[in-house]
Amino acid sequence: MTFPISRQGLEQIAIALAVGAAVFGLFALVRWRRGGEWQRFAQSTGFLGALIVVSLGIAYTIAPNIPTPPVPLTARFAQNPTPDNPATVAAGRALYQANCAVCHGPKGLGDGPAALTLNPRPFNLQVHVPQHAPGELEYWIDNGIPFTAMPAWGAVDPDTGKPKLTETERWEIVRYLQALAAGTAS
Ligand code: HEC
Repeated sequence: MTFPISRQGLEQIAIALAVGAAVFGLFALVRWRRGGEWQRFAQSTGFLGALIVVSLGIAYTIAPNIPTPPVPLTARFAQNPTPDNPATVAAGRALYQANCAVCHGPKGLGDGPAALTLNPRPFNLQVHVPQHAPGELEYWIDNGIPFTAMPAWGAVDPDTGKPKLTETERWEIVRYLQALAAGTAS
């Protein structure tokens, strides 16, 4: 299922609306004593503000619980074409540190500098990677995860006409993530 706007985007719009409503509300309160029109105005902005706060609350409660869509069987059982050796892990490490650590953290713990602002926040990859088939991991890296900040790294970059990460690069990262979770990456 695709949705025309990301969850992050919806949240940003909601926050902007809430700030706007708060500013209008304050303005209306200051003018309250003039009575009449301004009182009605304050009431309606107050109502709008409350509505937005309630929807934000619902969005934040529901959003992290939206399940990850299922991975197609063919992708799940795909085999990693890269050799299982230290050179592949090293290549994967460099790609991971350059592209992924900002959100997932240098050790995959979900503590990258950008993670704080995300909803849902990245999970601990050291815990999650062993729970999934390599093909599932590569599929998520390729296609991203809907309703989260996780980008689709296999998508073609309009500037270069090439994917942000090639298929080989994505599989190298999978090797690195598995080594990281197994404690053999250093
Ligand atoms: C802009 C922030 C961001 C960047 C950059 C990013 N991710 Fe993610 N990633 C997320 C979020 C948010 C999720 C969803 C929560 C989760 O599943 O951990 C996610 C999910 C994942 C998952 C699924 C984990 C699971 O078990 O649910 C994998 C695997 C993953 N990312 C790998 C990567 C790799 C590899 C890169 C770099 C090529 C990368 N991510 C870059 C934010 C990011």
